[in-house]
Amino acid sequence: MLQPSDEIKSKLDIVDLIREYIQLKPAGINFRAPCPFHNEKTPSFMVSPEKQIWHCFGCGAGGDIFSFVMEMEGISFVEALRLLAPKAGVKLTRQDPKLTSQRNRLLDIIELSAKYYNKILLESKQAPHQSAVAGQAEAARKYLTERGLTEETIEEWQIGYSPESWDDLINFLKSKDYNENEIFLAGMSVKKEAIRRAATNGAHANDNNVCRFYNRFRGRIMFPIKDVNGNIVAFSARVSPEKEAEEKMGKYINSPQTMVYDKSKILFGLDMAKQAIKKEDAAIIVEGQMDVITAHQNGFKNVIASSGTALTADQVLLIKRYSQNLILAFDMDKAGELAAERGIAQAMQQEMNIKVLELGAGKDPDEFIRKNPDGWSSAVAKAKPMMQYYFDKTLANLDLTNIDHKRQAAKILLPVIAKLGNKIEQDFWLKKLGQEVDVAPHFLHEALARIKPAVNYKEEKKQPEKQRAEAMRSRAEMLSELLLALMLKFPAHIEYAAGKLNPDQIDGCGIQAIYRNLIIYYNKSIDKGAQTGEVALSEINFNDFKNWLKQNSLSGQANDNTNESQPALLDKLALLADKDFYTYDSNQAKNEIIKIIAILKKGFLSKRLKEAAKLIAQAEKNNNKAELDGLMDEFKLLSDEIEALGNLEEDGG
Ligand code: UTP
Ligand code: MN
Repeated sequence: MLQPSDEIKSKLDIVDLIREYIQLKPAGINFRAPCPFHNEKTPSFMVSPEKQIWHCFGCGAGGDIFSFVMEMEGISFVEALRLLAPKAGVKLTRQDPKLTSQRNRLLDIIELSAKYYNKILLESKQAPHQSAVAGQAEAARKYLTERGLTEETIEEWQIGYSPESWDDLINFLKSKDYNENEIFLAGMSVKKEAIRRAATNGAHANDNNVCRFYNRFRGRIMFPIKDVNGNIVAFSARVSPEKEAEEKMGKYINSPQTMVYDKSKILFGLDMAKQAIKKEDAAIIVEGQMDVITAHQNGFKNVIASSGTALTADQVLLIKRYSQNLILAFDMDKAGELAAERGIAQAMQQEMNIKVLELGAGKDPDEFIRKNPDGWSSAVAKAKPMMQYYFDKTLANLDLTNIDHKRQAAKILLPVIAKLGNKIEQDFWLKKLGQEVDVAPHFLHEALARIKPAVNYKEEKKQPEKQRAEAMRSRAEMLSELLLALMLKFPAHIEYAAGKLNPDQIDGCGIQAIYRNLIIYYNKSIDKGAQTGEVALSEINFNDFKNWLKQNSLSGQANDNTNESQPALLDKLALLADKDFYTYDSNQAKNEIIKIIAILKKGFLSKRLKEAAKLIAQAEKNNNKAELDGLMDEFKLLSDEIEALGNLEEDGG
C-alpha cells in the first residue's frame, strides 16, 4: 500500500505549495526565488516542478514538500504530515501510532473544544429558554448579531460560547479520552493546587498535593485563533456583554502560550486572508479580531490582526511570504511609537512598503466599516507612507523657526530614517529632513552615521558552518558536481565520461559515490534497453534513479564526509544542471564535459606528480636505486599525460 507521505506527495504540487509561502518566478523549466531560509539579495533558491524538489544553492538546504514545510514552519515530519494531508485530500487514520504525537493530541483537543463552544452558541437559537446555559448563549448570540455579524460569519469563524461552568468542557473532553493533563497543556484549563491533609493526626509527611483543574474560559464569547494553515491553536475569549461592566479579568482573555500556540508567531485571520493578501498585494493589519471579522464580512479579505499587541519580527516575516506591502490600521495614539517596535523595524529593514491608514479619532476599523463600508477602500487608497506619516505627525507639533524645535525634529526623525533598509529611500528622507529643518544634508549624514546601524534579524538563521563549508569546497569538487549535473541532464554523454574519467578522479566522496552509481545504473538500463530493442539511452528517469539509490542501502546512506545523503545530493545536482546549463544543447554539453574532465584529470595527475616527486627525493636520499627507477618511470608517465591534456585550465575552463 502507498505510504501516506507518498500519496500526499503524488497529490500536491511542490510549486503550488511553496507559492503559499514565497513568491516564485519562472526560470527556464524551473522556478526561482530569494531563499526563505537565509538572507540573500540574488535568488539562489530553486524549485523543479518536473522533479518535485527544491534546493538552495546559497545555503545548501533542499528536499521535497515535507522538508520544505518542516523548515518553514519549524515542525517535525509527523506534524508536516498532518498539515499536508488535508491539502492533498488524504485521510490519516487516527490509530496510526506515529500520528498521536502530543502536539497533535493538543491540536485535537483545541479543535474539539471549538466545536463544543460553537454548538452551544448555535443550539441556543433553537431552545433559548430550555436551560440556563442556553439562555446565556442566546444573549451572546444576540450581542454578536447586534454587532452586525451574520450567521454565516459566525459559522465561518467558528465563533462559540463557553458556559458559566467550572468543568463542563473538561468533562466533555475526558469523555473523548483526553486526560486532565493534556487538556491543561492545550491551555483549556487552569490548575489549582490544593493540599489534602492526611486523615490521621495532622502529620504533614502524609499530606498529598492534589491538583484540581477548572475550565479556563467561563461565560465568554469564544473566537478560535488559527495558524496560517487553519489549525485552531488557541482562543481569544470576550467577556459576555452583560458582564462587561463588572469584569475584573479583562475584556478579552486569551489562551496561554502552549506547545501549539506561540502568540508572537500568529496573526489572527491570516489563514483566511492569505490569498487576498497575495492577490491585492497588501496586508492590512488591525488590532482586534472583531475588526478582522467585520472587514471580511464586508468583503475586505486582506485584513488580519495582531491581537492587541505589538507586531513581532516573526509576524512580519510571515506576512512577507504573501506581500511586501503593509498597511497599518492601528489606534492612532499608538501609531506614534510604531517604529520603535521590533516588527516594524524589521519590516523597514526588509524594505517592505509600510503605510499608515488614518480612520479619524476614536474609530476602530470595525466601527468604521459598519458605518461606512464604501469609505473603507478610499481610506485604504489614501493610506500614507509611514515615513510621510511620521514627518507630518512630528512636524505638526513643532515650530521650525525655533532652533530647539529643529533639533528636536532631527532627534525624533533621524533614528526612524536610520531603520530604513533601502539606502535610496534613506537618502530621500534625509534630504527631506534637511529641507524641513534647513540644514545641509551632509550634517545629517554625519549624524545618521553615528546612530547604531539597523540590525539584520534574519542573518543568523542559517547555520554558519554550512555556509563556510560551502565556501571552503575545492574547485575540483565544484567541477565534479558540474560534471555530474551535465551527465544527468545529458545522459547520452554518460558513456563518454565514464570511459574518460575514473571515479577516484572525482572530488568529494558523495559525488564520487553518485558517479559510480550513475554508471552502474546507466549500464543496467542499457542492458534492459538492449533486451527491449531500445539501445540508446537519452534520458535518465530521475525518480527511478533516485529510488534505486535509496534502495542501494550500502551507498544510499548519509555520507560522513558530506553529511548529505545521496538522494539529497542528487536533487541538488539535478537542479544545478537546470540552473547553469538551461540553454545548452547536446554539443555544448559535450564540449563542457570534455573541458571539465580534462581539468579534473589534470588536477588529479598533478597531485600524483607531486607525490611522486616527494617519493623520488626520499628514494634518492635513501639511495634506493630500484625504487627510484620505478618512480622515475611513473613521473615521466604522469608528466606526459599532463602535457597531453594541454593548458585547458588557462584557456578558461
Ligand atoms: P480592543 O480593546 O480595541 O478591543 O482590543 P476590540 O477589538 O475593539 O473589542 P470589542 O470591539 O470591544 O469587542 C483590541 C484587541 O486587543 C486584545 C484583543 O485581541 C482585542 O481584539 N485584547 C484587548 C486583549 O487581549 N485583552 C484585553 O483585555 C483587551
Ligand atoms: Mn472594537
